[in-house]
This record gives sequence, structure tokens and C-alpha cells, in this order.
Amino acid sequence: MRVLIITSSPNAAGLTAACGEAARHGIVDGHSSARVVNLNGLNIARCAVCEDGWGTCRSEHRCRIDDDFQSLHESFRQAEAYVVVTPVYFGEPSEALKAVFDRLRRCEATRKDEPSALAEKPVVAIAAAGGSGGGAVHCLAEMERVLGKLGADLFDAIPVTQRTREYQLETIHDALVALVSSRPSAPAASPSPREERRPPRPTRGRRRH
Ligand SMILES: Cc1cc2nc3c(=O)[nH]c(=O)nc-3n(C[C@H](O)[C@H](O)[C@H](O)COP(=O)(O)O)c2cc1C
Repeated sequence: MRVLIITSSPNAAGLTAACGEAARHGIVDGHSSARVVNLNGLNIARCAVCEDGWGTCRSEHRCRIDDDFQSLHESFRQAEAYVVVTPVYFGEPSEALKAVFDRLRRCEATRKDEPSALAEKPVVAIAAAGGSGGGAVHCLAEMERVLGKLGADLFDAIPVTQRTREYQLETIHDALVALVSSRPSAPAASPSPREERRPPRPTRGRRRH
């Protein structure tokens, strides 16, 4: 199974990155391939709200803004499952993720004659919050709503704080092992250089990511 992991934090050593890494380990331990994309390294504009409010997003199911959303949109089409990790900002997903959700929803949730590119594909949503964790549940609810509009199948929604970090990173790992083990994989495309496979990890053990 080809799993796309989306993160969106500027902190390479932060909680969001650690959650993405735990997910990646779970995917490769479940004999699947993972690709991590940090939205903060991409150039993705907000929706331009073309013409009277709709543009090619509704008529052609593609966004007309020529930026990194184009290749990301293709990555969403190609992937068979997703992990979406966001830092919690003001009780909501990051600005970078919201910009992607906005444009993806316009392109994919408007399809009438064919399913959304995300339809019925499993997704694990993860909200990485501060010490209090205030807003993490609200953030996950927002993600659930948009992912539902996109037709994705919410496999799990996991709140993580600095306090719960150690055991929730294990949970993320195990959720991804369960996800990739739960469905048959489509015939494998050749893995890209950024994809990798690792041998399985025998049992759930206490370890730091
Ligand atoms: C602008 C901003 C808003 C934040 N709002 C919240 C919040 O509403 N609730 C919360 O628990 N933490 C909040 N935080 C803390 C971050 O969610 C927390 O530090 C998280 O670990 C960030 O992920 P990172 O380690 O990948 O940067 C906020 C941080 C920033 C920068």
C-alpha cells in the first residue's frame, strides 16, 4: 500500500515531525511504502476564489494556480492511504494544511460523475498540540469534517500533546501497522527514491521516536 504522509510544521525536530516519523515507521513495519511531504517546504498559495467564486476546480477538477499544489494533488491521486499530521494552532489545523484542504476540497468534493480521488481511502488524522492540548479535539473535528467531504475513510483520529507524546507515538505507529495490514495493496508501482521499505518490527515495545 502506498501511503502519503502530510506534515505541516516548520520545526524539523518538533512534535509534528515526530508523529510523522512514528507513522512512517508503522507503515514500513507493515510492509508498505511511505512518502513524507512537509507542506512547509512547498509553495502553496491559498485559494484565489476565481471568477464568481468557482473556477476550473468545479468545471475541470483541477486548480488553475500553478504552484506546488499541482504535484501534491497528483500525489493524493496516486496514494492509497493517507496520514495527515498538523500542529494545533488556535485549536485548528495549520494554515498550510488549511490552504491545501481548501483547494483539494474544491477540486475533489465537486466531482459528480466519478468519485473523489480520496474516496474510501483510509486516513489517520493526527493533531500535535502543546502542553495543554487545548483545541486538539476541535482541530481533529475540523479535519474529520473536511476529510469526510473529500470522501476519505477516517481510520483513526489521534490527539498528541507533549504530555502524552511517548505513548501516543506508539499508538500512531500501531495504528499505521493496523491500517496497512487491513487492506490488500494495489499492484505495486516502482517506489520513488523517497519511498523505503524496512523489515517488520516484531512486537510493540517502548521506544522513543
Ligand atoms: C500560532 C500557534 C498557536 C498555537 N495554538 C495552540 C492551541 O490552540 N492549543 C495547543 O494545545 N497548542 C497550541 N500551540 C502549540 C503547538 O500546537 C505545539 O507547540 C505543537 O507541538 C507544535 O508542533 P511542532 O512541535 O511540530 O512545532 C500553538 C502554537 C502556535 C505557534
